[in-house]
Amino acid sequence: MHFYVLTLFPDLIHTIAGTSITGRAIKNGTITVDTVDIRDFAVRKTGRIDDYPYGGGAGLVIEAEPVFQAVESVRKKTSQKTRVVYLTPQAQVLTQTKVEELAGEEELILLCGHYEGIDDRVLEEVVTDYISIGDYVLTGGELGAAVLIDAVSRFVPGVLNNEESSQFESLQDNLLEYPQYTRPEVWHDKAVPGVLLTGDHAKIEAYRRSESLKRTKERRPDLLEKSYRISALVYGPEETRQRAERLISEMSRYGAVLDYDRKKLQKTRRTVHYLDLYVIPTGLETEISFAERFRNLIVTDTEGRKPLAVLITCGEDKGEKAFLENKGFSVLAQIPESDLADDRVAATALGLRERIDRSV
Ligand SMILES: C[S@@+](CC[C@H](N)C(=O)[O-])C[C@H]1O[C@@H](n2cnc3c(N)ncnc32)[C@H](O)[C@@H]1O
Repeated sequence: MHFYVLTLFPDLIHTIAGTSITGRAIKNGTITVDTVDIRDFAVRKTGRIDDYPYGGGAGLVIEAEPVFQAVESVRKKTSQKTRVVYLTPQAQVLTQTKVEELAGEEELILLCGHYEGIDDRVLEEVVTDYISIGDYVLTGGELGAAVLIDAVSRFVPGVLNNEESSQFESLQDNLLEYPQYTRPEVWHDKAVPGVLLTGDHAKIEAYRRSESLKRTKERRPDLLEKSYRISALVYGPEETRQRAERLISEMSRYGAVLDYDRKKLQKTRRTVHYLDLYVIPTGLETEISFAERFRNLIVTDTEGRKPLAVLITCGEDKGEKAFLENKGFSVLAQIPESDLADDRVAATALGLRERIDRSV
């Protein structure tokens, strides 16, 4: 992954990015961080790159031409399609989903403002993405660029070693992580929760999910509104089942698989909440109809919102979408089974998570 940072303070970027895990990644070539000093493209003899704002007001504004030239100089090394991210408080705040999406790029150009910002005309011409790192105002974009480099790099293969990497971050589920503990078992009379010492993986996962929910409710209740409980309702051919399972394991740490070939499940009333998201194959030729198989899904407790369904289309629609909509689901997406092939499933899952974030 190559980062190009356009800044008035290149040393600041090198100091931060060159430290700790990103520093190691730069040394071993897993990522590169090149800086371009916007001052090198001053058009005035004095070397100044800023001026007073038209219309008056406090502060200075960075001129358009030096920024434009700085971008052009980088464009000689990158593809013309490389995204140009302007760090600014005037944007959506960076999320883990956005970070993951940016990590899909091979190179990124990051533009840092300073003073009162940058002449808007050049932003209109060169910027593809506006990103804020939080609802507060910094003196410059460098810390934002460093945050972005750090968060995106964690997704670049080889940047984190085994101990550092966690396959799934709780935030990907729109949940805060459960509390973590290490040795000693008792500290200041506080014992580590007993379940963590049992070695029972299923119990530990259930405990962690409930602690995650509790913590999110206390500290970030707003996140809970987009924290879906994701399940695959599988039936039919083994390959389709596996693909559905793979999709939900890419979407959520806590995804559940329910086998709807089992008569018992078909007969059991299942109450569906508005924060449920079901991945369901459609278009399959099976002995019993879709409507019969899922007759006992009962949507309740919607609080004005609908649970979501993601349909994996394995053949022609036989009315499955209409059936689910009549039941009270909102169909978030219909994705062809081919989008769940091994080399595409991660991108498909990310696309769905982006849609979920946007839909809330
Ligand atoms: C003092 S700020 C300019 C703020 C600008 N006058 C405004 O109100 O939008 C200077 C630079 O810091 C960076 N910056 C400030 N706050 C930021 C934030 N929350 N996220 C990302 N970059 C930020 C931007 O690059 C901005 O151009």
